[in-house]
This record gives sequence, structure tokens and C-alpha cells, in this order.
Amino acid sequence: MTILVTGGAGYIGSHMVLNLLDAGETVIVIDDLSTGVAWSVPDGVPLMTGDVGDQPFVEKVMRDEGISAVIHFAGSIVVPDSVADPLGYYLNNTVKSRALIESAVRTGVSHFIFSSTAAVYGIPKENPVSENTQLQPISPYGASKMMTETMLDDVARAHDLTFAALRYFNVAGADPEGRSGQSTPRATHLIKVACQAALGQRSHMAIFGTDYPTPDGTGVRDYIHVSDLAAAHAAALRHLRGGGESVILNCGYGSGFSVREVIDVVKAVSGVEFDVRVSERRTGDPAALVADVRAIHEEFDWTPRLNDLRTIVTHALRWEEVLAKRSNAA
Ligand code: UD1
Repeated sequence: MTILVTGGAGYIGSHMVLNLLDAGETVIVIDDLSTGVAWSVPDGVPLMTGDVGDQPFVEKVMRDEGISAVIHFAGSIVVPDSVADPLGYYLNNTVKSRALIESAVRTGVSHFIFSSTAAVYGIPKENPVSENTQLQPISPYGASKMMTETMLDDVARAHDLTFAALRYFNVAGADPEGRSGQSTPRATHLIKVACQAALGQRSHMAIFGTDYPTPDGTGVRDYIHVSDLAAAHAAALRHLRGGGESVILNCGYGSGFSVREVIDVVKAVSGVEFDVRVSERRTGDPAALVADVRAIHEEFDWTPRLNDLRTIVTHALRWEEVLAKRSNAA
């Protein structure tokens, strides 16, 4: 009953590994360490460094370890990068996912949980966005994830495998016990950037656009704590193991905060009045993106425990302090 977590050395994957370990599961990680960091994989969890698209390697791991479920996080996530390098994104997120899914089918894996994204919706006409909204990704990133959802849907009809594709909204925060967090050095996420500004690691930060049709003119997003997101995957695993049907579900809290509201919370929690400048809109940013979460609550036994922006920011800030100490010590 060993679970394979791909991308387990990355931000969300490392929180998934902690969740599974806390639940007493046996876990192994495959990660190519392109953005993940080996030290974020807890002691005692085997880290196989390699590529999820390398079928001989992956199938050997699956057979040797008796993998029954795959939770697939490995992939590329930066929307503007996907516009500059579409082929790289289709390779990492679509072509390699196809190879991994084929390896899973060939070795008799029963369940597959896939990291999808709200980017499959593009610029939604209405919020909150339900799973039935027409998919119209506006970036290669969103399209690359949508294609993998389609593959899984077709594969689950043809083979003995069930899947859950979870469409994440904005993932933020860090492990409440301080064991992991967002460690990618080049991360562009709003809450991470604001925490870095609060800690003086950046001289200032920018708000990308103040003329959106939102209450204060700045972009609105649905921020979900990374540990609640990992718990949603655990609920997906219980659902599939219990014989539940394949599902595609939004993963968020169903409430939105503007960029200004997020910055105000970071300033309040940190007690630092850092420099915030207004800048142009970032290409491809929707005004608002908030999840309709009725379906996930109907399908899964999942209760968010950290649904509070101050809590998310407190944990994110604490993790930036841990990272700063690590790099000072290095
Ligand atoms: C994030 C994810 C994306 C996912 C999407 C789903 C990453 C890198 N991006 O994108 O994969 O598909 O959620 O909802 O994980 N902002 C600023 N200043 C900054 C940074 C951001 O004003 O320095 C604003 C943005 O314009 C946006 C909001 O903050 O309105 C959130 O931005 P960001 O954290 O980059 O996430 P998304 O672009 O929403």
C-alpha cells in the first residue's frame, strides 16, 4: 500500500508527505530536484532522484515498492514562463504526465491523484467558479494541466484505475509545525513576496494593477492553506480507496481576498510597514478567481482547519524566517 508522491521535495508535495507520514502511511518520493530541495523530504522517506517521464526508472520503482497510489505534483507552475516556453511546459506537465500515467497502468496502480489548477478556467465570466464552467485556459500552463485531466478521464474509462484531479486555487502558508514551506528561491506568489518584503529581503514590492473591476481595484484570489490542501488530497485518497468514482474538483475555501487586503494582513502580522508600489497589470491575470467549493464538500470527508488569512500569513512569515536562518547558516 505504498504511496508514490512525485514532486515530493517541492512546496505542496512536501506538505503531502508530512500529511501521509502523520497518518501512518508508507511513502516514497520521486523528484528531479529542479525546483524542489532534498532537505524538505523528511528523514526515513526514500527520495528517488529522477524524472517522472523516465518509464524504465519509474516502473522499476512502482514494481519494487508495490505502489498502489500515485499523487502527482511534479510539474512546472509559473504562468508567464509557460507563455515564454510552451513546449517546455507541455513536455513537463503533459508529455511526462502521460508517461507516468502509462507507467501506473502498466504496473497496476489503482489510484492516481493529480495536481490541477484553477488556471484551466482562464478568465472566468462569473465567480465563484464551479467545475462545470467551460474550460478556457489562457496560458500554456493552464492548457498543459487541462490536457492531463482529459487523459486521466479517458484512461480511467479504459483501465482499472480511478483518479482525482484537484484544481487548486491560490496555495499559500506553510506547515503549522514549521517543518516545511515554500522554499523555491524564485517563487513569485503574492504572500511569499509580501513576507519577503516584511523581512527586509526585498526593498519593496509591487501591486500588479489597481484598476480591476473589484471592490478595491486589485486582484481577488481564493487563498488556501497548503496543509488544508494536503488534507484534501488525503480525503481524495480515502474516497478512491473506498471505491469512490473518479472526480475533478475545485480546491479552495470559496472566499476571496484582494491584493491590498493580503498586504494589509502581512503588515499587521509582521508589524512592518514595508514599501508597496503600484505597478501595471501583469499579463494574463484575471480580476478575480474564487472557487465554488460545494462539490468538494459533497464528495469528500474534508474539513478545512486553517481557513483564516492571518493564520496563513503567520505560518508563511514564520517559514521565511526559517529559510533566512538556513541561508545565513550556509
Ligand atoms: C497562482 C498560481 C497558479 C495557479 C493560480 C490559480 C503560482 C506561481 N501561481 O497564480 O499556478 O494556477 O494561482 O488561482 O503558484 N500580485 C501582486 N504582486 C506580486 C505578486 C502577485 O500584485 O508581487 C497579485 C497578482 O497580480 C494576483 C495575486 O497577487 O492578482 C496573486 O498572484 P500570484 O500569487 O502570483 O498567484 P496567481 O497568479 O493567482
